[in-house]
Amino acid sequence: MSAAESIIRIENVTKTFGSFTAINNVSLDVPKGSFTTLLGPSGCGKTTLMRLIAGFHEPDDGTIVIEGNQVNGVPAYKRNTPLVFQEYALFPHMTVFENISYGLKIKKMPRQEMKDKVDAMLEMFGLQGMENRFPKHLSGGQQQRVAFARALITGQNILLMDEPLSNLDAKMRVEVRCELRELQQRTGITAIFVTHDQDEALSLSDWIAVFDKGRIRQIGTPWEVYFKPKTKFVADFVGVANFINGEVVGIEEHDIIVKFNDGVIRVNKYNDKFELGQAVTLVIRPECISIIEDKNAHDLSENVFTGTIGQSSFLGRMIRYWVEAGPIQWIVDDTSPSVRGTLQGIIHVALDKNKIHILPKED
Ligand SMILES: Nc1ncnc2c1ncn2[C@@H]1O[C@H](COP(=O)(O)OP(=O)(O)O)[C@@H](O)[C@H]1O
Ligand SMILES: [Mg+2]
Repeated sequence: MSAAESIIRIENVTKTFGSFTAINNVSLDVPKGSFTTLLGPSGCGKTTLMRLIAGFHEPDDGTIVIEGNQVNGVPAYKRNTPLVFQEYALFPHMTVFENISYGLKIKKMPRQEMKDKVDAMLEMFGLQGMENRFPKHLSGGQQQRVAFARALITGQNILLMDEPLSNLDAKMRVEVRCELRELQQRTGITAIFVTHDQDEALSLSDWIAVFDKGRIRQIGTPWEVYFKPKTKFVADFVGVANFINGEVVGIEEHDIIVKFNDGVIRVNKYNDKFELGQAVTLVIRPECISIIEDKNAHDLSENVFTGTIGQSSFLGRMIRYWVEAGPIQWIVDDTSPSVRGTLQGIIHVALDKNKIHILPKED
């Protein structure tokens, strides 16, 4: 993310409420035309950062630059950064047309021009024919679309969204999020999106900033934060992971050998950051482990461990197994389950050395 192409630049921003530091020296460059997501647990400061960008809070320290202009001290209504909230905040006494056209009416746009723009928005969001309805006569998904249309109609380049999908049911969330991504790509606007839902973040974003306790822990593509987390917190927050603590006992040309409890694991060496004797944590996603069913398999090679299936959880598209193998409990996702039923008893778990991420062990 180079500075030249960033549309929003947050530099060393800190925001306190009394003695509590809600945003702690955060820096973030948002590339123009990107879909950038702030992901983190509840209370980590996501909304506070959005409010700082939109101008509803002022930082105690640091600067915020939007489209090349420092905006510290600039009031919200002059910042051109519409914010869409979880509670769509539609005007209940206004029709869909009146809600969507609100920003244009304030600008005193002529009636016909306004109608053309609203029509374009209605079409874009599949709301044709609903312009005379009141919000209470719309579904949650439709209300959310009206909120997006209202935010986008004034032609801003930036759209801020704070958990805008969290009031929708599971299926509608996925539907609206696909629409949202498609719309963002089509219009080329810069979207900053807040969520605590990792699936949402992974599926929507160009960039994800993982937050914890007022700090950014990692900024990366969805692929990077999922498969190359820089810390255990990030690994754990963006998905389910097996963590195995061990020690580097061998470094070969292509592989690193890690000893844990009573076994060794071979890991592909994709960088030279590790040295002999170093304490490390291996991060292995459940879908990166395979199960070998054959109880009598003799030719068990490296990175294969024998265990017993404890619990299993049927999720339709996959089955999650908890496998007890010595002191380790593995979480393994069988992503192509058999119609014969769930597995039971003794099995072997097999690790692919190319699907193991290695981190220095944290204290
Ligand atoms: N106006 C405020 N006054 C005092 N504390 C606040 C205020 N706004 C937020 N906080 C605190 O700052 C922290 C971060 O809040 P918030 O940004 O809303 O988190 P998130 O959106 O990630 O859930 C929370 O502990 C919250 O209680
Ligand atoms: Mg929030």
